[in-house]
Amino acid sequence: MTEVNALARGEIAGLTTNNLDAHWMPFTANRQFKKDPRLLVKAKDMHYTSADGRQILDGTAGLWCCNAGHGRQKIVEAVQNQVAELDYAPPFQMAHPKSFELAARLAALMPDPLNHLFFTNSGSESVETALKMALAYHKANGQASRTRLIGRERGYHGVNFGGISVGGMVANRKQFGTMLAGVDHMRHTHNIAGNEFSKGVPKNGVEYAEDLMRMVQLHDPSTIAAVIVEPVAGSAGVILPPEGYLQRLREICDEHGILLIFDEVITGFGRLGTPFAVDYFGVVPDLVTTAKGLTSGVVPMGAVYASSKIYDAFMTGPDHLIELFHGYTYSAHPLACAAALATLDVYADDELLTRGARISQYWENALHSLRDCKHVIDIRNIGLIGAIELEPMAGEPTKRAFTAFLKAYEKNILIRTTGDIIAMSPPLIISEDQIDELTGTLRGVLNALD
Ligand SMILES: Cc1ncc(COP(=O)(O)O)c(C=O)c1O
Repeated sequence: MTEVNALARGEIAGLTTNNLDAHWMPFTANRQFKKDPRLLVKAKDMHYTSADGRQILDGTAGLWCCNAGHGRQKIVEAVQNQVAELDYAPPFQMAHPKSFELAARLAALMPDPLNHLFFTNSGSESVETALKMALAYHKANGQASRTRLIGRERGYHGVNFGGISVGGMVANRKQFGTMLAGVDHMRHTHNIAGNEFSKGVPKNGVEYAEDLMRMVQLHDPSTIAAVIVEPVAGSAGVILPPEGYLQRLREICDEHGILLIFDEVITGFGRLGTPFAVDYFGVVPDLVTTAKGLTSGVVPMGAVYASSKIYDAFMTGPDHLIELFHGYTYSAHPLACAAALATLDVYADDELLTRGARISQYWENALHSLRDCKHVIDIRNIGLIGAIELEPMAGEPTKRAFTAFLKAYEKNILIRTTGDIIAMSPPLIISEDQIDELTGTLRGVLNALD
């Protein structure tokens, strides 16, 4: 036993705790990373501090999540106080008060009828939850034949089996077998031709929404439960919905009794200059998945908004019976609730849920000033999101953008790449000077690329 405890403490001869080998890192080129690690040790406001003591300007809000910036005192204190007061409360048949306060405040932020919140711990779990709710809703509603789920090519809905089944990023699917049965995909809406260097939503492409009509005709609406889309797709390289596209999806869903799910894991909490994409596009879905900005990335948490129609469909039968057989040990964890409540306070105090609208013009101008840099084939933006698409190197897709990412990090800016696309989504507190620093540094990086 002594030996087990010593092992747990890392006190065994020969074991060094700075050995990088044991940690199998997610979505990472492990061997490349471990040869030349990029370790972040501190963060405050718009900057990370790297292990080698540099200040790194955060152009990605961590991973699209630290919308309030880093180390915000109010959030830090709320989490510290919470862990000392109530570390954990079981969420099944028991609860703690903060989860109800949080749900009520979140519901108030969304238009009617999205009035009910189900808590999870991540975007992936929010997606699984929403898909299961959609299936169970139709069953509760006497339409059990509606089992088919429709996603979209290049969609990203996290990494669990439901999410990769409706998702459309090939690399995230091809290693994992057959996934869920009964899923179909609409085409993605990315078409640079005719929409080059678009500012805000692209003008062309509303007809892609008619793919949903094709699914309806092919499968019959009586078999379709739900369609899930990201209002703005982030992980596949910032793919914007053409003008009128989301409205048309809503119309088709209404006409055929199909539930519409918006995956707002990245667009939620101010990213587009409005609280949600729901507000930006004026389209109200039946279910909305969120995570990331909900706690500004401080404690893992997700939440699914469900419309009253969906919630009410389950609230039948004897009172003592569980209505939905779904939930997580850490649903509505006290630390996550405390972090989310304090994050909402910070968003309100600093007007961050709408700040993106005020600086998006500056952001747009700065991004598009990179149009003439080497290898750039497209630039697009919306709210505080920007993408720069590079011409791939012949025979070596992704290499050019990954090189840009490494060089940018050397030059003290954090960007993100997917394929040959650079995606940026800074904390919503970014200043105009910092936008200039980000794009100015990127200009040098791009122009130095092979
Ligand atoms: C649209 C969307 N859905 C789901 C997820 C998955 O979230 P998580 O990594 O928290 O599971 C992400 C993550 O980037 C996302 O962008």
